[in-house]
Amino acid sequence: MQKKAEAKQSAIVTPWEVKGNVDYNKVIKEFGTQPIDEKLLARIQKHTKKLHPFLRRQIFFCHRDMDRILDAYEKGEKFYLYTGRAPSGPVHLGHVVPWIFTKWLQDNFNAILLFQLPDEEKFLFKENLTLEESRKWAHENILDIIALGFDPKKTKIFLDTEYAGTMYKHACRVGKKITFSTAKAVFGFSNNTNIGQIFYTAMQSVPAFLPSIYEGKPTLCLIPYAIDQDPHFRITRDIAEALDYPKPASIQCRFLPGLHGLESHGKMSSSEESGAIYTTDNPEQVKKKVMKYAFSGGQATIEEHRKLGGNPYIDVSYQWLTFFEENDKKLENIYKEYKSGKLLTGELKTILINKLNQFLTEHQKKRELAKKHVEKFMMRD
Ligand code: TRP
Repeated sequence: MQKKAEAKQSAIVTPWEVKGNVDYNKVIKEFGTQPIDEKLLARIQKHTKKLHPFLRRQIFFCHRDMDRILDAYEKGEKFYLYTGRAPSGPVHLGHVVPWIFTKWLQDNFNAILLFQLPDEEKFLFKENLTLEESRKWAHENILDIIALGFDPKKTKIFLDTEYAGTMYKHACRVGKKITFSTAKAVFGFSNNTNIGQIFYTAMQSVPAFLPSIYEGKPTLCLIPYAIDQDPHFRITRDIAEALDYPKPASIQCRFLPGLHGLESHGKMSSSEESGAIYTTDNPEQVKKKVMKYAFSGGQATIEEHRKLGGNPYIDVSYQWLTFFEENDKKLENIYKEYKSGKLLTGELKTILINKLNQFLTEHQKKRELAKKHVEKFMMRD
């Protein structure tokens, strides 16, 4: 017990680092977001007929101003979606979670999506990444984004270095409203921080205002993101009104845990390769990684497992199925059978492997096809 409490205390959630077993209720309190309650879910469902499993399962678990988005939508006003990805390596399954949900929002609310690839971000924040490498990853990552099925007529993807002509003057307006002491308090910067990092948050704010800029009138923007991005958008909301823009609304998701488990790492991390499954992994690699690394909530021996059952809460394979098995009935059965000891760890892993490979085989096909369609999505100066 003591150990658990400590692990919770030391959880870290920042845009640069997520560590420990994150207590999401605590995050809601600390970050000042609103939990997604039954009332809000019912209101969303009025427009979408079905609720996305990520909503039903609290994978998207909190928000700011979703009610305002729905008010506007119900009055026939349009809103934009905005999300992003800092290109620095291959896309793994944790990355696609918010994007899958963003596509669902686009389909259900017929919304235009702005997809930012800040190809300067990781260059500024990491030791060993050149701008050229980041741009190369941007082009790889774009294939994954397109493969998820976004509508080319309603989706604009842009690299900061290619859209800076449009963005820079707005970033200056944003930058002028943010003091160094605010940036320090929010991001923990120090005197050794390079000044590119300090300015960067202005570039991540700008797309939240582009809808109003494009439309020439206040236009709402909804930003789906994993909760570690929240510090940026707290700043964005704080300065919005001073620039005569509406505060962007947002909806936040949990992290897909790394294969090694909830306690070792709060989210799947690219810097630890064995803990992540990439969208380009082949069926053999997926099988190997899950079999070898997926943290198990099962018992030490089959006899004990049959007697005591597994613990789905700490079992990464089960936790991953809550993200990727859409069928509630199937998931519930797996839960029951694992908990009762009827389903063994190896069998549970096999269910997950098949599920992931089914998704990845499809994704990889669409990723190939995406190569021909990139230009339909790109926005440049
Ligand atoms: N900073 C994000 C990352 O590290 C990238 C990003 C830019 C983003 N704009 C965003 C993420 C909007 C979510 C929403 O990947």
